[in-house]
Amino acid sequence: MSKLPNMFSIKHFLVVSLALNISLILRIVYDNEDGLGGYMRLRKTTTYESDTESRTEVPITHRLRLSTSNFANSTSTDHAEDRDRVINLDHGDPKMYDKFWRKMGDKTTITIPGWQSISYFSDTTNICWFLEPEFAKEVVRLHNVVGNAVTEGRYIVVGTGSSQLILAALYALSSHNAAEPIDVVSAAPYYSSYPLMTDFQKSGHYKWGGDARSFDKDGPYIELVTSPNNPEGHKTGPVLNRSNGLLIHDLAYYWPHYTPISSPSDHDITLFTVSKSTGHAGLRIGWALVKDQDVAKRMTKFIELNTIGVSKDSQLRAAKVLKVVSNSTEEENTQEGESFFKYNYEVMEQRWKQLRAALEANGLFTVANFPNGFCTFFNKKTENLPAFVWMKCEKDIEDCQSLLSQHKIMSRGGKHFGVSQRYVRVSLLDTDENFNLFIDRLSAMQL
Ligand SMILES: Cc1ncc(COP(=O)(O)O)c(C=O)c1O
Repeated sequence: MSKLPNMFSIKHFLVVSLALNISLILRIVYDNEDGLGGYMRLRKTTTYESDTESRTEVPITHRLRLSTSNFANSTSTDHAEDRDRVINLDHGDPKMYDKFWRKMGDKTTITIPGWQSISYFSDTTNICWFLEPEFAKEVVRLHNVVGNAVTEGRYIVVGTGSSQLILAALYALSSHNAAEPIDVVSAAPYYSSYPLMTDFQKSGHYKWGGDARSFDKDGPYIELVTSPNNPEGHKTGPVLNRSNGLLIHDLAYYWPHYTPISSPSDHDITLFTVSKSTGHAGLRIGWALVKDQDVAKRMTKFIELNTIGVSKDSQLRAAKVLKVVSNSTEEENTQEGESFFKYNYEVMEQRWKQLRAALEANGLFTVANFPNGFCTFFNKKTENLPAFVWMKCEKDIEDCQSLLSQHKIMSRGGKHFGVSQRYVRVSLLDTDENFNLFIDRLSAMQL
């Protein structure tokens, strides 16, 4: 009998202890999950908030402060963040186009099944055997719609960006048994990558020969002509015009939202790229229109030796994007959709208007004025609206790039383009947020 209360209290103790343990285990589980969830949320937020421009990681403590204060008072934090944020307008990264393509929703979406794009080859009847016929078709159609290039009687060579095509063209135009490498020149200020790309691999076939305006050798040369020019924005032509010169026309910006289309380009080698026309720099697709069959063969050979062709998936995506651009132009009058060129012309027009107002407010820089011209695409006079602003510092400022970096604006100084650091190039193709920050900082800038 005396054992009964004892038994009862042991049982009682065991039941209570079990209940407490279960509750403890449950709390640990839920607390952990909560903690992990919180951590995951934090990680999610921080990825979103990591500084994508400069690609620097934001310290976790800082990230925490950012994400919590965002909930507390987003406006003041946004201002504080904006004040400290470095904006990278050094590269011409075309993030501006994100907005238009989001508006287009699924219009450019394609599905590529696993069995597709298996073979190296696209069209063995074509000199450029890795050119996707669908892409070639849309290139021709777009040039016909826009009127910016003659395609008839031209060979199309596709490249991994027009960057690869620049090298392919240099390889194709240079003599492979000459005693000396041929000089490659371009009129300063020239696209900053030309000298770097030309001499990158120390080719025995060609070498950088500098500013075309000061080229005084008698020998043969290749002149790179960029029109409209990067960085200045003017339409240009060759400056040397000698009989022993070969030309490569880089028309990356010869599209109606940047410049009036005066006539279809009609050169020996003309380069275009989706990076600057539609904004799809990440596809890495460019194309060359080539008059001479042997040159087209040699360019194709270069790409064969370099990368054994060009991504078929990227060509298919580019074909779809070009198709939607052409469709959007044709549908404009039927109210079906928004014309790509009209929309982006208006964006560029607005940006240049804001830019000129800001420049006027501070008086520290001079920027060229561009004459309007008749655009055969829009069938009216339009403005020249370059993708970059090329600014010259006034008031004895020697280093324009440093001045901008003091205001947390990354830009590219004149020395990269073969001129003085009193000049600087700033990209106008970044997001609205970064463009507006640039304008705010420019307006407030004082010596
Ligand atoms: C004049 C010019 N050519 C070529 C390129 C290279 O373009 P892609 O992205 O097609 O290699 C650029 C890019 O900025 C450019 O400005």
